[in-house]
Amino acid sequence: MDYLRIKGGKKLGGSVAISGAKNAALPLMAATLLGKNRLSLHNMPDVADIQTLLKLFTKLGSDYEFSDNTLRIKNDAIDSTVANYDIVRTMRASILVLGPLLARFGHCEVSLPGGCAIGQRPIDLHLSALEKMGAHIDIRQGYVVATAENGLQGARIVFDKVTVTGSENIIMAAALAKGTTHLVNVAKEPEVVQLCRFLEAAGVRIEGIGSDELTIEGRDRQALEFADITVIPDRIEAGTYLCAGAITNSELSITKAAKEHLEAVIDKLEKMGFYFTYNDDTITIHPAKRIEPVEITTSEYPGFPTDMQAQFMALATQAEGTSTIEEKLFENRFMHVSELLRLGADIALNGHLATIKGKTELCGADVMATDLRASSALVLAALVSGAKTDIHRIYHLDRGYESLEKKLQALGADIERLSE
Ligand code: UD1
Repeated sequence: MDYLRIKGGKKLGGSVAISGAKNAALPLMAATLLGKNRLSLHNMPDVADIQTLLKLFTKLGSDYEFSDNTLRIKNDAIDSTVANYDIVRTMRASILVLGPLLARFGHCEVSLPGGCAIGQRPIDLHLSALEKMGAHIDIRQGYVVATAENGLQGARIVFDKVTVTGSENIIMAAALAKGTTHLVNVAKEPEVVQLCRFLEAAGVRIEGIGSDELTIEGRDRQALEFADITVIPDRIEAGTYLCAGAITNSELSITKAAKEHLEAVIDKLEKMGFYFTYNDDTITIHPAKRIEPVEITTSEYPGFPTDMQAQFMALATQAEGTSTIEEKLFENRFMHVSELLRLGADIALNGHLATIKGKTELCGADVMATDLRASSALVLAALVSGAKTDIHRIYHLDRGYESLEKKLQALGADIERLSE
């Protein structure tokens, strides 16, 4: 198994290009199940989660090629509508095939994702929305067995909670339903917006894109003609590299980034004393005179993203004073705390609230990655740890960060990937 060895204490500099957003690429790929033509998805990140979904697509009978960050795909000969446990358990976002398969083929069987490191993460909202659209849903031997023999019907659906993949699933289902679907309390994440634009360019009428209410005119099971698309930049990867600049208090630039998707993250970094300059799609972070503590509460977009919480916790260990981080979205997303403590951080946990006292001198240690974003917090902490840090189980990082160690090496970090 691979692990990362980082020798901390070096200033970083230079620039790094941001990859396409994994969380935008996954629903766009799922949406291609609604279409019949060959198309290209550009700026696809080459990360393990994308490979996992491609593995599932092979089983479904999809025809595709993936090279040089471009996916050429055609889904006119799908001959299976089963997403099996082996794949879904490695990536719960595989649930994104549920809406499109059901809407297009009237039947599908998708394994329940089960538990994951950051909490229960149910899919009840996906299922109840599909039932409202006329689907019959059974849970059999760990599988969601969904049928809608005469297709899905448009419906009015009010989401109880804001759910990103839940919104995406139902938007895709509504695109091929019969009649109009009104969705209320929809996620507004940029990844959801890009999915809507992709469907719109394929002829689906959608009103309210970017707001929390959508009206979608379904195409009554008529397969769509998609246009090529370029995946938006990964705002979480971008935020992580900005944090790499911040924690080492270095000047560095990220290129191919979308500043408009990073407002909450940049706002917090500014409050901590860093400042920014911008040039087209390049964002440069400049060192702080003194790193100030910060108060963070995670929320849905455009609020502060839960996917950046762990990285800011690592950064808060270097602030002069006491910071707080409140996690509002997931009940168990503080797995990184015990590993940060091993590196010498001073963090107290009380339910959903973490209190971080800084500044602490971090030491090197062996640590273990527990989920995707928790792992990146360990990488950031290791960049300022006195001696060497070995980060194990980095398959979590490989799920969502393209060429992480190469990008950090290019910024001047002393980091290598080794095998144990
Ligand atoms: C997506 C992102 C993930 C991010 C999360 C929150 C992808 C592939 N993943 O995950 O990186 O951390 O949004 O921004 O885009 N919930 C229910 N019932 C449901 C669905 C969700 O109770 O049917 C709850 C969840 O347990 C959680 C909250 O709603 O507390 C938000 O989860 P959700 O937005 O669905 O997260 P994901 O879409 O899985």
